[in-house]
Amino acid sequence: MVRSLVTITQQRIVQYSAILIGPSPNRNVDMSSQTKSHFLPTFARANVAFERGEGVWLISTDGERYLDFGAGIAVNSLGHANPKLIEALTTQAQKVWHVSNAFQIPEGEALAARLCELTFADFVFFTNSGAEALEGAIKTARKYHSANGQPERFRIITFEGAFHGRTLATIAAGGQKKYLEGFGPASPGFDQVPFGDHEALKAAIGPETAAILIEPVQGEGGVRAVPPQCLRGLRDLCDEHGLLLIFDEVQSGVGRSGKLFAHEWSGISPDIMAIAKGIGGGFPLGAFLTTEEAGKGMVAGTHGSTYGGNPLAMAVGKTVLDTVSEPAFLEHVRDVAIVLKQRLAGLQDQYPDIIAEIRGDGLLMGIKTRPEVPNTDFAAAARAEKLITIPAGDNVVRLLPPLIVTEADVAIALSKLDAACAKLSAGLRQAARTAAE
Ligand SMILES: Cc1ncc(COP(=O)(O)O)c(C=O)c1O
Repeated sequence: MVRSLVTITQQRIVQYSAILIGPSPNRNVDMSSQTKSHFLPTFARANVAFERGEGVWLISTDGERYLDFGAGIAVNSLGHANPKLIEALTTQAQKVWHVSNAFQIPEGEALAARLCELTFADFVFFTNSGAEALEGAIKTARKYHSANGQPERFRIITFEGAFHGRTLATIAAGGQKKYLEGFGPASPGFDQVPFGDHEALKAAIGPETAAILIEPVQGEGGVRAVPPQCLRGLRDLCDEHGLLLIFDEVQSGVGRSGKLFAHEWSGISPDIMAIAKGIGGGFPLGAFLTTEEAGKGMVAGTHGSTYGGNPLAMAVGKTVLDTVSEPAFLEHVRDVAIVLKQRLAGLQDQYPDIIAEIRGDGLLMGIKTRPEVPNTDFAAAARAEKLITIPAGDNVVRLLPPLIVTEADVAIALSKLDAACAKLSAGLRQAARTAAE
């Protein structure tokens, strides 16, 4: 009885959402001409296109201004059309675009050196994406044990709710059924344990275990942070069993947490780390970083990439890193993040019928909506107010604005979220009234 009321209520909310915020994303339609799109329809795209951006704002082809609290899913760390990044890219574009990794690339050496100065790492390998960075990290961990005369140690422990990318190995590492289904047998060598289950983790360690792979903050999984003491516990466990600790900071890294990398809050460091997204500020760039010891198996010929470390990407990446690693910049992220968190807590108090929980830290925040309010409806309601947010797992909507966001921008975002919540709340009340009739 209760369940059927909830179902009816959900149906009504969907109908009401459609009235309030317009039609849901239209998968195969090209905005401008309304003709069939030739994109392989693997994405459910929203029915809006952007022609330019300015800082934290995106301007659509129909002239509307959207406040971007998605940053291309944690990518546009310095905002849109950042003058410093334009300068870095265009200056490099006038010199040399591509030479291949058969030659020295001074721009890449400079970025790698700076990354090593700022982190635990001794070596860096550049990639074009996060998934490739993870592939390299996984290969490095396996090769380490092989170089130590233990090639049988190739298994990697991962955690439920993880997301490490969409290649065959990274969907196996992520272990999510919805991404694995239909693509043949999962790539072997990954053992998944429940998030936060210490006993299951210890039980999963065996003679074939090579490494533990974890996101310090699960982004796609619904903004679930691993507490600092658990990261420290993982470090101890790895040291005790001779395992390598791999962090996936593709989403949580490059300033988003208020430190350069989220794991820094725990005081420990990994042996290997994958990064991407924010480091390129919008230019495709990823990397895996390793200590000299963990990387000792990765000798000449063991790994490669045509584009990885391309001079254009290196010039942009170096500019992003120099900017984000400034202490004052990171302090700004921490300050504005506190304001965002406080304001979101206030929003939850105001709309307990819509918001179940506020999660996260830094500029990677999650709004978990009530079961009656699908996160995609919430994101659509925010978009109707011209605010971009990003849905995640566990019925969470992520807020991950460019790191240059100001308190004034946060105030605008909150007024848009307030308007979205008010409409969703009105829809809920109307649906409940109709269901009772
Ligand atoms: C934590 C994490 N790892 C890996 C990836 C994969 O990155 P990419 O899409 O660049 O391959 C993502 C992407 O969302 C991510 O959030």
